[in-house]
Amino acid sequence: MVIGRRLFVDIMSDTVWFLTSNPGKLAEASVHFAELGIEVKCLEVPDGAIVEPQASDLESVARAKIEQALNHLPHDNAMLLVEDAGLFVTALDGFPGVYSSYAYDTIGNQGVIRLLEHLQSEDPVRAKRLRAASFKAVSVLWKNGEVLIGRGECQGSIASQIQGAEGFGFDPIFIPYDLDEDGHPLDPENLGSLSTHGQTFGEVGVEVKHRFSHRKRALDDLLNEWQNQRSQDGP
Ligand code: IMP
Repeated sequence: MVIGRRLFVDIMSDTVWFLTSNPGKLAEASVHFAELGIEVKCLEVPDGAIVEPQASDLESVARAKIEQALNHLPHDNAMLLVEDAGLFVTALDGFPGVYSSYAYDTIGNQGVIRLLEHLQSEDPVRAKRLRAASFKAVSVLWKNGEVLIGRGECQGSIASQIQGAEGFGFDPIFIPYDLDEDGHPLDPENLGSLSTHGQTFGEVGVEVKHRFSHRKRALDDLLNEWQNQRSQDGP
């Protein structure tokens, strides 16, 4: 569903406060909301104010962060955005998943590659299947006590080595599957209309990544959710 820029400017104030200390995430969300004329600012919270919740799914983690961050909003009717994401590797039963942050800080990109080093094939399509993974994101927007949730996924595979230094986190080891003209991911044997041609997110940079991004999809889903709700509520 296409959502008009005007509608969003009407229903949202023009600033979203994003609970993140990650400049990469802020840059991606800013690109997204800029299309709607909305500025995304980083919500500053004191050190230790937000405790990383222990939960088995991304949505519970994001909701728990919303609860903790509400007290730090600059004014009562400010909008708060929280996003939680992770890398889910199929051959590792979804690990690191909700533990992605910890896994990145401890074993890092090299550690993930090491965990998958036995999964190789001469056949590039089979190699991609063996090393399949997806980024998943959940975006939660709080406004006047109302909570909206968006979910997004980006399918791909784990590279055999670290490639590129753009982006953040696991970007240098993640190669997205091609997308068709409607933005849907294709099986690894198919060439799509949008492709990184085997390059990782760490090689292609934020503008290209944005077109595949789980975060973009979660934000799109969230904004669609908002519009659906408004049409149910009536004029
Ligand atoms: P967070 O809890 O949403 O901050 O993300 C958990 C971990 O997953 C962090 O260590 C990030 O490095 C990693 N991560 C989340 N999203 C991405 C992404 O888009 N690219 C690369 N790594 C990501």
